Amino acid sequence: MWENRLSYDTVNLDDDENALVIIDQTKLPNTVELLHLSKQQDIREAIYRLQVRGAPAIGVAAAIGLYLAANGIHAERWDDFYLRLKEAKDYLASARPTAVNLFWALDRMENVAVKNKALAVRDIKKALHDEALRIRDEDIGVCRSIGEHGLALLKDGDGVLTHCNAGRLAAVRYGTALAPVHLGRERGMNFRVFTDETRPLLQGARLSAFELVADGVDTTLICDNMASQVLKNGWVNIIFVGCDRVAANGDTANKIGTSGLAILAKHYGVPFYFCAPSSTIDMATGCGADIVIEQRPSEEVTELWYERRMAPEGVKVYNPAFDVTDNALISGFVTEAGILRAPFTESFRRLKGSAIALAG
Ligand code: MRU
Repeated sequence: MWENRLSYDTVNLDDDENALVIIDQTKLPNTVELLHLSKQQDIREAIYRLQVRGAPAIGVAAAIGLYLAANGIHAERWDDFYLRLKEAKDYLASARPTAVNLFWALDRMENVAVKNKALAVRDIKKALHDEALRIRDEDIGVCRSIGEHGLALLKDGDGVLTHCNAGRLAAVRYGTALAPVHLGRERGMNFRVFTDETRPLLQGARLSAFELVADGVDTTLICDNMASQVLKNGWVNIIFVGCDRVAANGDTANKIGTSGLAILAKHYGVPFYFCAPSSTIDMATGCGADIVIEQRPSEEVTELWYERRMAPEGVKVYNPAFDVTDNALISGFVTEAGILRAPFTESFRRLKGSAIALAG
């Protein structure tokens, strides 16, 4: 079923068509439809509208989007090319504010252009093409490694709770929080996964449930307000969630509802892990209060998914897309380099330090 229904990478580049190729996640689970997007406006809109979503997938989509923008720039001189490239970068960066992977990937692309500025524009474009594909390919390897490290925390038959979608639909393949589950499935293991529906955009019901069921996982969908009861019942051995930005002190932004789940986990003594590529750790953001939280339209709460509006006209709506989990509630971060534990700032410094040493 998996192969038939979802055998594509979530994000890709079609060189023949000069297009970003994504699975339109707003149509899931009922329709698996690939979108081929070439115009910058459509690519930015796809990120804003969550046709492509999830921190790693947004980063890869933006990198490919910036390559496509660069490829369309008609300029011979570096200064002219760079000016237009910066405009395109700022435009894509304005799509969503919280997931740091968007900015991380765009910065990586800009750095490659700058490093190659002495080359002919044609060759700079080639370097940007290769970097965008490198970012995509690295994501696959990084998520698989997250899966390996996360799997070490699981035993066959375990109950796992997750929130939002940090599965393969949120990355290129595997995902982060669901990578251990998918990898375990590849090895014949079985888990019981509980997925919160994740109001208001239902990423848990529409996306996590879809990809888990497609992978043959024993999946139970619960409304967000049922998590406490499920934990109290003792059905969950571990909570795995993804994240959008990790501050230097370990405070972590993820889909709205995550911090409440972490508080419940502490109460019931259930281990609570964020699964994330190291690119989601943002040492330039000191603590959770410094993370910009995206506010989204009120209609997502009052109207979307209902046949008729379900709240009175004139009611005020608070619709933050993310919340911040305090570092004290977090058991650890499952990264591609292993599991990081408190004190987080030191663990992050060591990880970033070794990555810089490897790159240099
Ligand atoms: O608004 P979304 O659907 O982009 O939010 C996604 C999440 O909050 C994910 O948990 C996070 O990006 C990690 S994805 C591996």
